[in-house]
Amino acid sequence: MRIGVDYYPEHWDKKLWEQDADLMKQTGVKVVRLAEFAWCRMEPKEGEFDFSWLDDAIDILTSRGMKIVLCTPTNCPPLWLYEKYPDAIQTGKDGNKIAIGIRGHRCYNNPSFLKYAKRIIEKMTSHYAGNPSIIAWQIDNELEANFCFCEHCISEFRDWLKEKYGTLDVINQTYGNVVWSGEYSSWEQIKPPFGSYPNAWLNPSFMLDFNRYASDNMIKFVKMQSEIIRKNCGNVPVTTNTWFCENMPDFYKTFEDLDFVSYDNYPVTKIPENKEEYYSHAFHLDLMRGIKEKNFWVMEQLSGGLGCWMPMTSAPHPGMIKGYSLQAFAHGADTVVHFRWRTAATGAEMHWHGLIDQSNVPGRRFHEFEDLCKTAEKLSEIEGTKIKSDVAILYSSDQEYAFKIQPQTEGMYYFEQLKAFHDAFTKYGVNVDIINWSVNLNNYKIVVAPTIYVTDEKVTKNLYEFVKNGGTLILTNRSGVKNEFNNYRMEMLPTVFAELIGAKVSEYDPIGYAEQKIQMKDGSEFTCTRWCDILETTTASVYATYGDSFYQGKPAITRNSYGEGMAYYIGTVGRKALYSHLVQNVLTECNIEHFDHLPYGVEITVRENESDKYYFVFNDSDKACDVMLPNQLQDILTGDIFNELRLQPYDMRILQGQSIQ
Ligand code: GAL
Repeated sequence: MRIGVDYYPEHWDKKLWEQDADLMKQTGVKVVRLAEFAWCRMEPKEGEFDFSWLDDAIDILTSRGMKIVLCTPTNCPPLWLYEKYPDAIQTGKDGNKIAIGIRGHRCYNNPSFLKYAKRIIEKMTSHYAGNPSIIAWQIDNELEANFCFCEHCISEFRDWLKEKYGTLDVINQTYGNVVWSGEYSSWEQIKPPFGSYPNAWLNPSFMLDFNRYASDNMIKFVKMQSEIIRKNCGNVPVTTNTWFCENMPDFYKTFEDLDFVSYDNYPVTKIPENKEEYYSHAFHLDLMRGIKEKNFWVMEQLSGGLGCWMPMTSAPHPGMIKGYSLQAFAHGADTVVHFRWRTAATGAEMHWHGLIDQSNVPGRRFHEFEDLCKTAEKLSEIEGTKIKSDVAILYSSDQEYAFKIQPQTEGMYYFEQLKAFHDAFTKYGVNVDIINWSVNLNNYKIVVAPTIYVTDEKVTKNLYEFVKNGGTLILTNRSGVKNEFNNYRMEMLPTVFAELIGAKVSEYDPIGYAEQKIQMKDGSEFTCTRWCDILETTTASVYATYGDSFYQGKPAITRNSYGEGMAYYIGTVGRKALYSHLVQNVLTECNIEHFDHLPYGVEITVRENESDKYYFVFNDSDKACDVMLPNQLQDILTGDIFNELRLQPYDMRILQGQSIQ
C-alpha cells in the first residue's frame, strides 16, 4: 500500500528540492504528484515551452525511488493566454466575464482555450512519453460541471438539446413551456439560466437538462484530454481527482473511460457536538469505490487544518492524520497521496496546512505521517484485496440535481437520505457499496434506494427483478414522483413502485423541521421529521404508524412480500435511532454477518482475497473504547491475537481471520 504527497517544486527555491526529496525518501513516501497548476512555468510565453525545471524535479525525486503522477495543467491557463483571448475565461450568470487571477476559470468550450490546452497536453505528454517513473496522469484538477454562459456554451447547450429532442415542438411539449408563456419559437430563444432568480423559479425539466448538459460538457473536456494522453503515453493509467462540489458531474459517466477513480479526501477535523450529524467520512470513500466498483486512490488527503477558502479549521487531533489515511485503505483505497508536503509560504493557499508547517520544521503531524508511511510499507499482504458487500445504496446524479432544483421541504437533502442509511449499516460493522442506481444488483442481499424521485424505466425494472428474485429493497418517501424529464407522473404515489411496495400514498404532509412520533409494530417509538407520506396498504403489512397529527394511526412504514423478496417503504424521514432499529431488523432477517454492539464511532470493514479476510477496525471518535470480537483474530502488524481490543482515538487495527461471527 502506498503513501504519497502532493508537491509543488515551482513554489520553492531549488535548493530545497534535494532536501525535500531526501526527507521524503527517509520518511517512506512512494508517490509524488506534480504540476497541476504549473502551466505558466511550462509555457512561460506563447509557444515557448520549458520542461527543464520539471525534468530536474522528476530526476531528483525518482533518483530517490519515488514514482510520479503528472497532471495536465489546464485548470489555470497563464495570463498571456487571457491577455490575448479574454473570451477564454468563463462568463457568469450576469453575462459578465468572471475574474482573472483565480483558478478553474477557463471555459471548456472556448476555441482559443481549447487550442492552447490541447497543445500543452500534447507537448507535455510527448515530452514524458515512455518515462517509466510516471505511473499515472491526472487530468486537470477537481473538475466541476461548470455553468458558463458564454456564446460557445450557449451554442453547445442548444446542440445538446437538438441531439436529444430534435425539434422545438418536442421540447415545448416535454418541458410544458406553455406555463408562464415560455414556449420557444426559435432555437436562439434557448438560453441557459441567466439572471439572479433562484433555480426554483425556473422550469424544473429545463433545469434538470441544463445540469445534465453541464456534466456531459465537462466529460467531453475530460475525453479530449484522455485521448491525447493515451495517444502519447500508451498504457499509463489516466484519472482525474474528483470531489463533492457545488456543480457535481455524473461520477459514473466521468470515469467510464478513465482507468481509476481518485478522490480528494478532507475529513472534518472538528468533531460535531450533535450526535445526529452524519459525519463518518466512510460515506464518501464508499461512494468513490462504487463509481467503478473497484479500488481507488485518494489524490489529496488531509494533512493539517484547512484554511484559505475559509477561516482556519481545527487542527487534526492526534491520530487523525494516520487514522484517516488508514480508513481510506479500509474502504478500498490502494494509494493515498497527502495534500500537501509543506504549507504554502506565499499565494492564495497559505493557510491550508501541509504535513510540514511553513517553518519547515517537521512537527507532530509530520511525525504521525512518518509513522503512517512505516505502517503502509508493512501492509503488502493486503494489496490486491477487495471489498465485497451484501448491502448496496443507490446513488444517482439525477436525484441530486432534481432535489437541488426543487428542494422538497425544509431541511430535506438527497445526500442526507443516503447518509442516514450508510450511517446505520456502518454502525453494525457491515461493508456497504454506494453504487450507480442503474447497475446490476444480483450480488446484493439488501439494496437501499433512497428517494427515487426522478424515475427511469430500466432502474424500475431492475428493482422489481431484484425483489422478485429474493432481494430485500428499502424505498423511501418521494419515490416515483417524477418521470425522466422531471415532470410529475399523473398517478397515485409512489406511482411505478406502488405494486412493488403494496401500498399507495393517499396524501402527504411536508412538515419540514417539525418533529412527530411514529410507533413501530413491535411497540418501540421513534421521532420522525421533514416529510410524512400517509399510506394506504394494498398487499403490504403495516410496520409503523404515525403517532401525531390528523393522520395519527395511519401507516408510516410498510413491508411487502413480492416474489421471493421483500420491499420496505419508509414514508418519512427518521432520526438516527429509527434507521438503526430498522437496519438491525433487516440485517438479522437477511442473515447478514454484523456486530450488534459496536461502541460509538467504531467502524469495521473487511477486505478479502481468495484465501484471507482482513478486518479493519477503526475508532472514528475522540474517546478510547473497547471492542469485543466474537472470534480470536490476529493483528497483521504485531502478530498479537485478540478477542477484545482497546482502541485509542482514531486508532486502526488490521486483523486477519476467517470469519468474525
Ligand atoms: C483542493 C484542491 C487543491 C488545493 C486544496 C486546498 O480542493 O484540489 O488544489 O487547493 O483544495 O486548498
